[in-house]
Amino acid sequence: MLPSDLVKYKEKSQKIIALTAWDSISGSLAEQADVDLVLVGDSLAMVCLGYKSTLPLTLENIIYHTNAVSRGFTKKIEDQPLIVTDMPFLTYQCGEDKAVEYAGKIIQSTYAKAVKVEGAEPEIQKVISRLIRMGIPVMGHIGLTPQSYLNLGFKKQGESLESQEKIMKEASILEKLGCFSIVLEHIPKLLAKEIQNKLRIPTIGIGAGKYCDGQVRVTADLLGLNDDQPPFCQPIIQGKKLLEDKLKEWVNSERFN
Ligand code: KIV
Repeated sequence: MLPSDLVKYKEKSQKIIALTAWDSISGSLAEQADVDLVLVGDSLAMVCLGYKSTLPLTLENIIYHTNAVSRGFTKKIEDQPLIVTDMPFLTYQCGEDKAVEYAGKIIQSTYAKAVKVEGAEPEIQKVISRLIRMGIPVMGHIGLTPQSYLNLGFKKQGESLESQEKIMKEASILEKLGCFSIVLEHIPKLLAKEIQNKLRIPTIGIGAGKYCDGQVRVTADLLGLNDDQPPFCQPIIQGKKLLEDKLKEWVNSERFN
């Protein structure tokens, strides 16, 4: 599947389902669950590497983890989920030339077919436009953008009218620049609905309500593997507790047998 095929999903009103992955086990789980898209998100800095934010993640880290994810895939190549990889902090904020070089490295040395870039500030718009012209498909990401948490925190965006207008405008700009889809993170569901209606390209929501064209979740959140759970992701199992209990059970059974 090519990134541009996601637009056909929207045209057919077919929901796009995406999960994040960070290694071959999570990649395999996502593939076997039949997702359309696997995002190697920079959230792996927090859910897999133990950092408190996504900022410490490097280009080398994301390439290493993207390759681990694809090694977990076992389906025929044409049946595998589309891989989109996050551009880490500082790989696209320092100008268009560097961004092309770093995004190019991701595409060249992994099976990712697109990159995701946070924000829509004028500098970022230039970067996105250049990446797309150079043949690198881009997924946008607006609303809560974790790489800007030092300015914005991890809080819900689009609460005021001014912020809603800004997000609406950013969504239209990203579409005009040629993004093939946009992640909408932690914004009010009616704002997400308005954006979904207005855009031709699909919106993929996380904490943005049910009206998006697709949904993405951080797999570790969905499986309840973290101590800190974002308010907008209801875990489907208490994975951490379950695994801890089972491992403790095994350790005790071995120790006292
Ligand atoms: O890094 C990530 O996992 C993401 C999702 C929250 C969309 O960007």
